[in-house]
Amino acid sequence: MRLLMSEDDQRTGPVGPDRLRELYAWPAEPWVRSNMVATVDGSASGHDGVSGSINTTADNAVFDVLRSLADVVVVGAGTVRAEGYGRLERDDSGHAPTIAVVSGSGSLPRSIGSPEEDRGEAVLVTCASAPAGRLRHARGRLGADHVVVAGDDVVDLPLAFTALAERFGPALLLEGGPTLLTDALAAGLVDEMALSWTPRLVGRAHSILAAEIEEIALAPRHLLEEDGTLLGLWTVRR
Ligand SMILES: NC(=O)c1ccc[n+]([C@@H]2O[C@H](COP(=O)([O-])OP(=O)(O)OC[C@H]3O[C@@H](n4cnc5c(N)ncnc54)[C@H](OP(=O)(O)O)[C@@H]3O)[C@@H](O)[C@H]2O)c1
Repeated sequence: MRLLMSEDDQRTGPVGPDRLRELYAWPAEPWVRSNMVATVDGSASGHDGVSGSINTTADNAVFDVLRSLADVVVVGAGTVRAEGYGRLERDDSGHAPTIAVVSGSGSLPRSIGSPEEDRGEAVLVTCASAPAGRLRHARGRLGADHVVVAGDDVVDLPLAFTALAERFGPALLLEGGPTLLTDALAAGLVDEMALSWTPRLVGRAHSILAAEIEEIALAPRHLLEEDGTLLGLWTVRR
């Protein structure tokens, strides 16, 4: 991988694993960073409907670094269902972020499973209007302190993100999907965005955002490249 530009570091050129971790170090806490991948024509998923089919070795490397630096991976229930996400594995240092699944309907995807020693914790983020039976089920599977109820009729994302940062750690990594990312951006909750473009076209209208939002300006922090994959990091201007 090579660094094409960086706001903080003029040493462009080859980047090894340690430098990659430095480039993606969380700049402040609490801090919400999103990470998404898209094809060059801007699709967030391949022909099979999942993003797993459009990523590359370089994108996977940054995806892993971001997870290894995060305390909590926040993800919408739709993505967990589509991608079959489970609890997150420990890295070589023994660190595993908590996975926080956001579901307004309170339905905890089956793939999240029960606690496992070699994997991180799991949290359900939902709201008070979720059916009582589902909340009971989630509390039974995850433990009462691993169900965050924020908001009455809809999930109050600012309240939920604050609760996650206080209870499970301040470095939040928002991995989408498009619906959750759009809502979090609209609520002014995203501090920084990591986005990779992989060198293919699929002609599939499935943007990284699920709906129109008020324009948001971004300031570039860095741009990396490997085998045609471009990997950028931008700060959200307030
Ligand atoms: N390219 C990428 O980097 C990337 C990343 C992630 C996902 N994806 C792709 O995106 C697709 C899924 O898209 P999606 O927009 O459906 O994903 P999503 O945001 O993960 O899932 C939507 C579901 O998550 C819950 N949710 C999201 N935002 C919520 C909010 N503000 N309040 C309450 N609940 C909320 C709801 O679940 P309930 O229905 O249970 O209430 C909603 O139906 C898949 O194809 C996946 O592969 C791509």
